[in-house]
Amino acid sequence: MAVLVTGGAGYIGSHTVIELLASGKEVVILDNFYNSCPKVLERIKALSGKEVAFEECDIRDKAGLDKVFEKYDIDSVIHFAGLKAVGESCQKPMLYYDNNIGGTVTLCQAMADHGCKRIVFSSSATVYGEHNVSPLKETMTAGGTTNPYGTTKFFIEQILTDIEKSDPEWSVCILRYFNPIGAHESGMIGESPNGIPNNLMPYITQVAEGKREFLSVYGNDYDTVDGTGVRDYIHVVDLAKGHLKALDKAYAENGTFIYNLGTGCGYSVLQVVEAFEKASGVKVPYKIVDRRPGDLATCFSDPSKAKEELGWVAEKGIDEMCADSYRWQHNNPNGYED
Ligand code: NAD
Ligand code: UFG
Repeated sequence: MAVLVTGGAGYIGSHTVIELLASGKEVVILDNFYNSCPKVLERIKALSGKEVAFEECDIRDKAGLDKVFEKYDIDSVIHFAGLKAVGESCQKPMLYYDNNIGGTVTLCQAMADHGCKRIVFSSSATVYGEHNVSPLKETMTAGGTTNPYGTTKFFIEQILTDIEKSDPEWSVCILRYFNPIGAHESGMIGESPNGIPNNLMPYITQVAEGKREFLSVYGNDYDTVDGTGVRDYIHVVDLAKGHLKALDKAYAENGTFIYNLGTGCGYSVLQVVEAFEKASGVKVPYKIVDRRPGDLATCFSDPSKAKEELGWVAEKGIDEMCADSYRWQHNNPNGYED
């Protein structure tokens, strides 16, 4: 029996594939390389010492998905495939709704047609919207998302919940990630953004590597410890391990389950810069600029439900996150593009 990993060539997917293989699972990676490249597959093979099945396919391609389900004995899906750039989603909402929502519905249809009814889904803390106050708990009302990307995550959560309600043979595990950073400690796989990074850590590592002159810190007048935005950064390997626990849950029980995956600790932008400089020994010049529209002052999780029900806790701290992010960037200055 195999686990189908959609978006398995991407940042979080590739780290999760490594953990799945290490635990002895059979894995099939499915990706269309929209935001990733084939080179990651070589790295996965080198790191794991295993040959991994790969299918180049778009999750919106029903006939393609059917072939994949016919070819392998797939009994669960970890669904990472999706587009994730908040700004781009405001400019191209139809692309986001089609790819993320349309793709997920097509994927679920293919799953149902082949009797595969276990799915672990990549959601986001963004579904908590603006009205909830951190620490964010799964019992809080989700919604009130402020951009099409976030809305796709909120809608997909609803769609998966409705599918499970309509057919209680389904098991749906919705994972709300906080801010994944870091990389595999080998420095062989990591985050490889196209163009100018939108997110804090890839921007910091590119400044440290001399690819960018300075970090723009988006506002220092928030009501936080030093005025800069506070987030719950989580090491991508801890996050990956959370998926294995969620998969165990999906095998053990039918139903819809929602879990935050975060550390429960918030760090400000300047605290991250300081931790990064300490971990890397490299200075990160920065300038304070205007706030970025749509940003929240503070966002961090209450991760206790995942601890109680899945037996999962994040183990790696901010120093390790920074050291591993730097190692990846330093070993691969251009990411996978070389
Ligand atoms: P990523 O872009 O590195 O990985 C996503 C992968 O999905 C890519 O390899 C891409 O090529 C693939 N993909 C996209 N559309 C596809 C399609 N239609 N068919 C087949 N493959 C397709 O992103 P990531 O950071 O690894 O994120 C994985 C998931 O987690 C996404 O759904 C994202 O929205 C979600 N998430 C990410 C973050 C974050 O900060 N990285 C936070 C919360 C949630
Ligand atoms: N920041 C900067 N400068 C930068 C980039 C970011 O100061 O160049 C600040 C932001 O203002 C924020 C913090 O660093 O205070 C973190 O910003 P990120 O862009 O790294 O992360 P966000 O919390 O804004 O967004 C992330 C994902 C979204 C997701 C959201 C909630 O990118 O997709 O978490 O899960 F919706």
